[in-house]
Amino acid sequence: MTLTVQELIKKAKEAKEKAYAPYSGFKVGAAVEAESGIIYTGCNVENSSFGLSMCAERIAIFKAISKGERKFKKIAVVANTKGPVSPCGACRQVMAEFGNFDVILANDDGEIEQTTVDQLLPGAFDLRRDEN
Ligand code: THU
Repeated sequence: MTLTVQELIKKAKEAKEKAYAPYSGFKVGAAVEAESGIIYTGCNVENSSFGLSMCAERIAIFKAISKGERKFKKIAVVANTKGPVSPCGACRQVMAEFGNFDVILANDDGEIEQTTVDQLLPGAFDLRRDEN
């Protein structure tokens, strides 16, 4: 079973409500659909020591990886931004580690942009490129 884009955005919005963002006040939610069909969600989690904060996208992806997933169909990311939210560079690199899948960017106003990992991070660093 595969979720629709709107269904995945809804999961990301629900995750956003769980965000722990007392310092920035900027809440982000993410939901990634693994090849298994299971959905893993994430929200940003901040810390008094700001550099220890973690993005919603990476939490969702790391939760999935820690459950044994390795491939993804799509990820949705939502925040209260002007226009669809733009994932940070670190999260783009983490997405690229697991291939080229669909990325759905959205905001609270219902604006949506559909893109891909390769489009978001052309030329991603990849140690495996030299393996063959
Ligand atoms: N944040 C995310 O969760 N994802 C992104 O792609 C960009 C930034 C979070 C980190 C921090 O808690 C807050 O947004 C402000 O930077």
